[in-house]
Amino acid sequence: MKLRSLSAEFIKNKRVLLRVDYNTPMQKIGQKYQIVDDTRLQITLPTIKFLLKNKAKIIICSHLGRPEGKFVAKYKLDPIAKHLEKLLGQPVKKINVSIGPEAQKAVADLEPGQILMLENTRFHPGEKANSPEFAQQLASLAEVFVNDGLAVSHRAHASVVGVTNYLPSLAGFALIEEVSHLESLIKKPQHPFVAIVGGAKISDKVEAIRNLSEIANVVLVGGGVANNFLKADGVEVYRSYLEETSVGGKKKKISFVKIARNLLRKTKAEKMLLRGYIPLPKIIYPFDVIATDNLDHPTKQKTIILADDNDSEEKQNWMFVDIGPKTQKLFREVILQAKTVFWNGPMGVFEQKKFAQGTQAIASAVAQVKGKTVVGGGDTISAIKNLGFEKRFDFLSAAGGAALELLGGKLLPGLKPLLKK
Ligand code: 3PG
Repeated sequence: MKLRSLSAEFIKNKRVLLRVDYNTPMQKIGQKYQIVDDTRLQITLPTIKFLLKNKAKIIICSHLGRPEGKFVAKYKLDPIAKHLEKLLGQPVKKINVSIGPEAQKAVADLEPGQILMLENTRFHPGEKANSPEFAQQLASLAEVFVNDGLAVSHRAHASVVGVTNYLPSLAGFALIEEVSHLESLIKKPQHPFVAIVGGAKISDKVEAIRNLSEIANVVLVGGGVANNFLKADGVEVYRSYLEETSVGGKKKKISFVKIARNLLRKTKAEKMLLRGYIPLPKIIYPFDVIATDNLDHPTKQKTIILADDNDSEEKQNWMFVDIGPKTQKLFREVILQAKTVFWNGPMGVFEQKKFAQGTQAIASAVAQVKGKTVVGGGDTISAIKNLGFEKRFDFLSAAGGAALELLGGKLLPGLKPLLKK
């Protein structure tokens, strides 16, 4: 994908509206909110520094959370502006609106090389609705638009797509780098290519799994997503988390179990050889799991071999919370054969230490792969950072859903206006 890249000739001394995705995990400490993981801020620093060097007047906009078009105090961007100030070592002026006279005035007061941060764009209903009025008002603050937020580029929102109707639009450095790493996986992966997909929900991953099952040699599935494949294969998942069908909207409900079943059928004949002679199916899901009776207050924990189908009464209460040791061993062996790895989503409820072993086993195996390793998604990155493994991967993509849609073969709405003509 050839995107119009940020260059000095377009932005020098100009007012630049910079769309980033600072939708980061936050935690309340006392009365204040603080950033838990600043990866999404860190990756935009090269673009911001380049704009500063070229004496642009920088107007940063982002969303945080899903305030649904209303003001929600906990989603204000003030703590993010403060954190960015620290990272840059220069002031970031934050205002409480994203459009209107106050925003116009703050922009008029900006000197070259200064930074203004607008308030959360999602406090305005026009953002999600991609309303032309809101987009036009945002655009009127600037002379050029730069998108450096791949993570939000799958959303056709006003500050991502709408503004590009009114301003010359360019791609920031972080966005270009992420797109090129992700695209290299689809276009020219070295084989064996092992894709690993986990996490709780399958809804935002299903297209990526479908596409990855065509381009990768094997897709290892864990987390809640694996429960769809287990159920599709007739394995009982008891009280485990299972996103069985799509929810909401007027559209017909989609059965994810049915999609999983079709994918298993479609890929049935394709095999990858382990150790050069053991045929493996294309999509592999756990054959043993760690189960517990209660997620928040577990009193029991057990490894279950899923083929052992005695349906005891005790089993009816189980929830699967991690991949089991035998599955970990197989996944590890498969991963170590890889020349390319893409991984998105933890293998279990990794936030609880005792259910994090599967995710840790995968992280440590991927960290040992000699070929290209790309990891995507906030949870996966935070699991890797907790282990101190972040330097051992080729690329950590901060984009979760957007990266998966890109790997699903979609041209993201936020990228379309940035394409070179
Ligand atoms: C993300 O974290 O995936 C992006 O910021 C998009 O957020 P959303 O799913 O609330 O649109």
